[in-house]
Amino acid sequence: MKRILVINGPNLNTLGWREKQVYGTMTLAEIERSIARKAESLGVEVRFIQSNHEGVIIDEIHGARGTADGIIMNPGAFTHYSVAIRDALAAVDLPGIEVHLSNVYKREPFRHVSLTAPVMLGVIAGLGPIGYELALEALVSHLRQGGESQ
Ligand code: DQA
Repeated sequence: MKRILVINGPNLNTLGWREKQVYGTMTLAEIERSIARKAESLGVEVRFIQSNHEGVIIDEIHGARGTADGIIMNPGAFTHYSVAIRDALAAVDLPGIEVHLSNVYKREPFRHVSLTAPVMLGVIAGLGPIGYELALEALVSHLRQGGESQ
């Protein structure tokens, strides 16, 4: 069974009350439940982590080596400036899909840059919580076609 690690970065634990006009009203727990249901229907295993700490996220990415077949990640604000998270993703060399709830390209210019996207298989932005489910479907299809890294 394919194993997918779903990582949510800083401030995503506040979904549900954080800037609802931008991120909607679903909590992270609700989003994770919808991903888990999708995973069940696709016959894959998912593990969820959320952290507000760069080092914890880096350790989790390292830990994915040998324990996960792919990564779905919303790096939150780290997207725009964390060279260290990008390097960790490049090091483990697993196929990954980056997800953003909001359309970062419609927002402030500093959100238009993603340091992590170049080491990912693809990016989904602006579709809200369903973006995670779509990412899971795409990642599983990629893995089943024998796809490995980015
Ligand atoms: C985000 C977009 C980022 O710019 C922001 O810092 C976040 C959430 C999104 O899901 O739209 O924390 O990754």
